[in-house]
Amino acid sequence: MKPEYLQLVRRAAEARKNAYAPYSGFAVGAALLCTDGTVFTGCNVENASYPAGICAERSALSAAVSAGKRRFSAIAVAAGENPTPPCGICRQALAEFGDLDVLCADQNGSRCRVFSLRELLPVSFSL
Ligand code: THU
Repeated sequence: MKPEYLQLVRRAAEARKNAYAPYSGFAVGAALLCTDGTVFTGCNVENASYPAGICAERSALSAAVSAGKRRFSAIAVAAGENPTPPCGICRQALAEFGDLDVLCADQNGSRCRVFSLRELLPVSFSL
């Protein structure tokens, strides 16, 4: 794997440590690489009103877009015992900004599978 991707997976595993997941107990970290080389991280933030929670990937995406970034080359996700792919809502949210590489890692970032977003969401909704 590209060295910058290894680093991105490490950033996702690090971001996972801030996850607030008292309801599911499933901590997720994400790190989003912009085409200009900057990285934004996120974690899942759950809520007693369950639907108010947000996934790690959309948390990272919101941070990046809020900082004025709209062009992305890759996102790393770190969670679970086995490499974890993004949920359907996060795939759709990312697809808004075009294709990118999706690095699915386990919670330590030690095992990783790489997909393109288009591969994970071949026919996305758009307006
Ligand atoms: N979660 C994410 O953060 N990303 C995903 O792609 C899948 C699910 C979170 C949401 C919830 O806090 C917990 O994992 C269990 O679903």
